Amino acid sequence: MSIPTISVTFVQDGTPITVQSCVGMTLLETARSHHIPLEGACEGSLACSTCHVIVDPKWYPKLSETSVDEEDMLDLAFGLTNTSRLGCQIVLSLELDGLVVTIPGQTRHLVSMNNKDSVD
Ligand code: FES
Repeated sequence: MSIPTISVTFVQDGTPITVQSCVGMTLLETARSHHIPLEGACEGSLACSTCHVIVDPKWYPKLSETSVDEEDMLDLAFGLTNTSRLGCQIVLSLELDGLVVTIPGQTRHLVSMNNKDSVD
């Protein structure tokens, strides 16, 4: 039995890119598998905000609840909105078929900043 797929649209610089992804993958994994530039510096361990996406308001209520840890990391994201989420925390389900998210123009590179701090 094959894993069901859904379509997800990433909007970057006003340009929509629609891809197919498997149910059970995260939005971050989906972006990476299609070479869409969503950074995800901490590899999904909730230690950065570089996977910040802005969810289309129509789709935001369909997502799972935001955890306290995710909210803490979102507070560090540039350009935070009422429908902001971390891409590594969005797990795709059949209900999310057609999901639309925007990749913000800027992200905060915490891992890079931390590395720089430790060198200085
Ligand atoms: S990849 Fe770091 S919090 Fe999502």
